[in-house]
Amino acid sequence: MPTTVLLPSVVDAVDIPVVAAGGFYDGRGLAAALAYGAAGIAMGTRFLLTSDSTVPDAVKQYYLGRGTTDTVLTRRVDGVPHRVLRTPMVEKLDTAGPVRGLARAAGNAVRFRRLTGLSLPAMLREGIRMKRRSGFTWSEVIMAANTPMLLRAGLVDGSLDSGVLASGQVVGLLDGLPSVEELIDGIVDEAEAVLRKW
Ligand SMILES: Cc1cc2nc3c(=O)[nH]c(=O)nc-3n(C[C@H](O)[C@H](O)[C@H](O)COP(=O)(O)O)c2cc1C
Repeated sequence: MPTTVLLPSVVDAVDIPVVAAGGFYDGRGLAAALAYGAAGIAMGTRFLLTSDSTVPDAVKQYYLGRGTTDTVLTRRVDGVPHRVLRTPMVEKLDTAGPVRGLARAAGNAVRFRRLTGLSLPAMLREGIRMKRRSGFTWSEVIMAANTPMLLRAGLVDGSLDSGVLASGQVVGLLDGLPSVEELIDGIVDEAEAVLRKW
């Protein structure tokens, strides 16, 4: 749902401060969010693409080369919709049949268990809790164990072949890797200038 539809509907529905998220990256956006009645903004993709972010540099450069239509909203990562960069790996996930997708998810679940040191009974208990909480089917629960493995492979290990890269559509509007300090100072200055002009 576009932020221009989601944000006013949430601001009208609740009586607590609302933080706007989805597509923000500059001072104009902050000023617009404030005009909608938000208390502030949160940014995902913009902070990922800063010099302070610990994501491997090659991965940041890959993001910087993407356009606004290079993301895809997919359920094939873990059963719930995620927006990610359209990489060859994601194309493969999207076209794999349910059985191949599930086999891959089960393999990743086992790798996740090794990584976290969780015992099999502990993992099963967590799965049962998740199933009760979310109403997922068992195959969706197995796929949910996929996400940490796939995000880690992409954003920590820097593997474009085996990882998924979470991203907003705003990726296509970003260039350069400012520090977080430069980024926030610039956004606040620009928002103030925009609001003063009004
Ligand atoms: C690296 C990264 C990790 C994310 N992880 C999560 C997450 O764990 N849960 C979630 O609900 N959304 C997650 N998101 C989606 C953000 O909530 C979403 O991007 C946010 O609305 C900000 O939008 P923006 O990226 O356009 O700034 C992630 C986004 C990125 C870029």
